[in-house]
Amino acid sequence: MDFDGLDKARLPQHVAIIMDGNGRWATARGKSRIEGHRRGKTSVRVIVEMSRKIGIRYLSLYAFSTENWFRPDAEVGALMALLEHYLTAEQAKMMRYGIRLLAVGDRDRLPPQVRQALEAVIDLTRDNQRMTVVLALSYSGRDDVLRMVKKLAQEARACRLEPQDIDQELIADHLDTAGIPDPDLLIRTSGELRVSNFFLWQIAYSELYVTPTLWPEFREKEYLQALREYQRRRRRFGRTDEQLAELADAAVKAGGRQS
Ligand code: FPP
Repeated sequence: MDFDGLDKARLPQHVAIIMDGNGRWATARGKSRIEGHRRGKTSVRVIVEMSRKIGIRYLSLYAFSTENWFRPDAEVGALMALLEHYLTAEQAKMMRYGIRLLAVGDRDRLPPQVRQALEAVIDLTRDNQRMTVVLALSYSGRDDVLRMVKKLAQEARACRLEPQDIDQELIADHLDTAGIPDPDLLIRTSGELRVSNFFLWQIAYSELYVTPTLWPEFREKEYLQALREYQRRRRRFGRTDEQLAELADAAVKAGGRQS
């Protein structure tokens, strides 16, 4: 694969994806929604592999939201089976490619065999360092915030935490994503302009990219397009262009002094 047109020095460190449109892809073709998810699984494989080749360090995939539990039983069952199959089928490749798997979300709600498969792969890949894939399973951003608040409240009740010691770093350290840098780029497929209760705290400064392409058709070409668009963006983090230029200048000078 030719990654022409991508600046290797300005890749997003963390790409997060809301994979949407499996159902619509299938319905438009007279297929079952489950067929759409099956094909969506192939997109997952392609995008994981491509991320590794390009040098993305963290890839987060919104695979199953807490709201998805309300879907018909047959669809939930099929999604769980696909996940379990993905986990067992891909573990050898994850080891070969140095991919570490992590999960965010309420694992207790997953069927035992999916949870076991998930935990086995997380355990197996824990020391891999080339790339981290974060699966959001039974996840929602509000749930994550709620879990964090409960953990901090317990710490406070046990007199291990004073309210004045709560800062942004402490909050981030008590979210499911503790230790994972915030996404630089959030991609959503299928054209909807929503965050749908995915990462909330974590996307404060993420660049948003929405494509009308449905997830089962989101492959190499579309991913490269998203990454190129990211590289055209100017991330200001609330500062002015002049301040950014000064900061860049100072970084160059500091780099010069070091070398
Ligand atoms: C959204 O499409 C997608 C999902 C709810 C599940 C995503 C799951 C996969 C891509 C397959 C398995 C995942 C892994 C990690 C192997 P939708 O059904 O909401 O589409 P619609 O909005 O068109 O109905």
